[in-house]
Amino acid sequence: MKKLMIAPMLLLMVGFSPSTIAEEAPYTVTNGNEVDEQTFNGFRLHRNFCARCHGTFSEGMVGPNLAESLNRITKDEFVETVTNGKMGQIGMMPAWSHVPQVMEGMDEIYAYLRARADGALGEVRPVRAK
Ligand code: HEC
Repeated sequence: MKKLMIAPMLLLMVGFSPSTIAEEAPYTVTNGNEVDEQTFNGFRLHRNFCARCHGTFSEGMVGPNLAESLNRITKDEFVETVTNGKMGQIGMMPAWSHVPQVMEGMDEIYAYLRARADGALGEVRPVRAK
């Protein structure tokens, strides 16, 4: 009888854990600008591919402020827009599906922008935490 009770409880616990993990921040920021490897790579990718339209710290230029966008759009919408681009009222957001660095670095770029959107990282140049 005991065994029969434990099995469904384990299933429930397993069922709950992924959502708990998904809610964890994908970045760490200490001392205002020291970030983990993934977030740092995200900043570099953003600088190379996104900053010329969205601004050095994604504070907005011809492209919108992505630190604000990320509090409005879901991660799926982010991935969809970056992959396939978007022709909207503001202008033309290019598609990146043919650029391996961006496609492979999607989570890293997202981590950097998430840190910006959450206010964990300001309009400052991040450095790799030691
Ligand atoms: C050539 C300029 C340009 C470049 C380069 C560019 N974007 Fe954009 N992006 C735009 C414009 C313009 C829009 C607004 C489209 C519209 O009118 O809705 C946009 C919109 C977006 C949106 C949707 C924002 C929202 O509020 O819905 C995301 C996400 C985004 N860009 C991410 C990126 C990322 C990540 C990169 C780098 C890999 C990048 N962009 C590079 C011009 C650019």
